[in-house]
Amino acid sequence: MTEQEQQHAENVRQSAAQISSLSSRLGLQPKIAIVLGTGLGGLADRLERAASIPYAELPGFPILTVKGHAGVLLVGRLGGVPVIVLNGRKHFYETCDATPLKTMIRAVRRAGASTLFLSNAAGSLRAHMHVSELMLIRDHINFLGLNPLTGPNDDEFGPRFFPVHDAWEPELSARIKSVAKRLGITLHEGVYVAFRGPSFETPAEIRMAQGWGADAVGMSSVPDCLIARHCGMKVVGISCLTNMGAGLSDEILTHAHTLANAARGAAAFEQLVIEAVKVL
Ligand code: HPA
Repeated sequence: MTEQEQQHAENVRQSAAQISSLSSRLGLQPKIAIVLGTGLGGLADRLERAASIPYAELPGFPILTVKGHAGVLLVGRLGGVPVIVLNGRKHFYETCDATPLKTMIRAVRRAGASTLFLSNAAGSLRAHMHVSELMLIRDHINFLGLNPLTGPNDDEFGPRFFPVHDAWEPELSARIKSVAKRLGITLHEGVYVAFRGPSFETPAEIRMAQGWGADAVGMSSVPDCLIARHCGMKVVGISCLTNMGAGLSDEILTHAHTLANAARGAAAFEQLVIEAVKVL
């Protein structure tokens, strides 16, 4: 093992120990970790009797720079269910280094979480999927040009090769769909394609992604999913559709626009997640 890999393994151990000790202080054993995407951080305020640790105090966790991402890990109850909430994450366009993301996900895994619930803001590629509606992620296309598990494999975390035909857990996803139906929340279902960003896409790229069978486009969640599957977690995910893909409407895409429309979708998102964690 290289020095860097040893450091990573040590960071995972130390961060996991801190999360576990916070959980035991609260008398909780969370099995679900939730990653809050851009503009969806409001769910953190819905936690009951929560305690938090800033990422800056967790060795190896990401240092965040993007507006709309808080950079705090919380443990508490959501609708009565113990959860870990990761409020904020780093995108590939920031450093092209997945190590902090790996530390974050492997640490919650080691602290006892077996399911990762991902969320993100995304552009819709389908006319029937409207702005501020939600989409359950059924599958993904990794168009980042990078795989977070590239490089030497540490068998302590997971195997060198692993299948991802069921990366987004079908059984748990079906339960989320039933919950949405019961609540009367529109929940589309589709394929998420991750572009590296930070520029939004061109209309030509959007047409290409549509042709590939993608239904929503974003800049995150695929690395998180791969890292989590590698270390044996189950993964589910929801996209909040903050805009139509470039060229599919007249709007000019900006980050402020993403945040504003995520806020419009946030109420349904929060309600759905609070009810969904009860059945996962
Ligand atoms: N493209 C990429 N990422 C995004 C988008 C988009 O249209 N909307 C929100 N995140």
